[in-house]
Amino acid sequence: MKDIISIRDTSKKEIEKILINSESMERLMKSGSDKLKGKILATLFFEPSTRTKLSFESAMFHLGGNCVDFSKEKSSLIKGESFSDTIKIVDSYCDVLVIRNPVEGSARLAAEIAKKPVINAGDGANQHPTQTLLDLYTIKKSKGKIRDLNIALLGDLKYGRTTHSLAYALSMFGAKLTFISPDELKMPRRVTDEIKEKFNAEIQTKNELNKNLNYDIIYVTRIQKERFPDPQEYERVKGTYKINLDVLGKDTLVMHPLPRVDEISREVDNTKHALYFKQASYGIPVRMAILDLLVNSVTK
Ligand code: NCD
Repeated sequence: MKDIISIRDTSKKEIEKILINSESMERLMKSGSDKLKGKILATLFFEPSTRTKLSFESAMFHLGGNCVDFSKEKSSLIKGESFSDTIKIVDSYCDVLVIRNPVEGSARLAAEIAKKPVINAGDGANQHPTQTLLDLYTIKKSKGKIRDLNIALLGDLKYGRTTHSLAYALSMFGAKLTFISPDELKMPRRVTDEIKEKFNAEIQTKNELNKNLNYDIIYVTRIQKERFPDPQEYERVKGTYKINLDVLGKDTLVMHPLPRVDEISREVDNTKHALYFKQASYGIPVRMAILDLLVNSVTK
């Protein structure tokens, strides 16, 4: 594995290996490690980020490595430098690149330009593979398995890149999926068709958002306001769902890639249902495993 651009490029075996290594990374977080001593991670975030960027940086520090950060506003992009020249230069300053960009396909393009491994931290509404890896890790840790779990993905399934990557991986691991969204924000056909064809996935779809969420896990997402071509379309769907304790099954666990706006009521936060903060914390060991795998095994 050289780059992580789409979860669709990773095999089940590779994913399993990352999940097993993440477990050892949790131990290394306590003892400290110099596995990536002398190595440099470059972060290039052309869109806002809290968890993804900070957990990658923190993961690198836990492994004894260092980070450099590219900031669009303070860079020569403002002077007119091209994306590809920028990638070429940053590539020569580091050992691994993490990139988030609003343009779909931008991480793939960066990987073609760079000699070092490139990790996609989100390309527009397309993919967010490392979020999926930490989501899978969270599910395995909490439920002990993925196969045959009833999992609902709820919210903005049209523009939510996390759900596109996750739906693919969950079907690969044999979970039973339900997609719940307003009609305007349905899972794209290309995602559903592919997982049906490749994994024989049986998928239920629903548009009733606030009732009977009796699943093993519901994965709630934010309406991706910034991706709507038409602000009026956003106004029509905003606030159409809010998960509270009344709608959850007795043992339902609630996940969310975060940030949350208003789609999960705060009353859920301090209950046994809330898994989202734990989930965010797993970003560190999982990203340690990803960095270790790519930087230590790659000679591109
Ligand atoms: C998500 C993203 O950027 O796609 N955030 C994250 O990485 N945890 C979800 C979102 O922004 O809603």
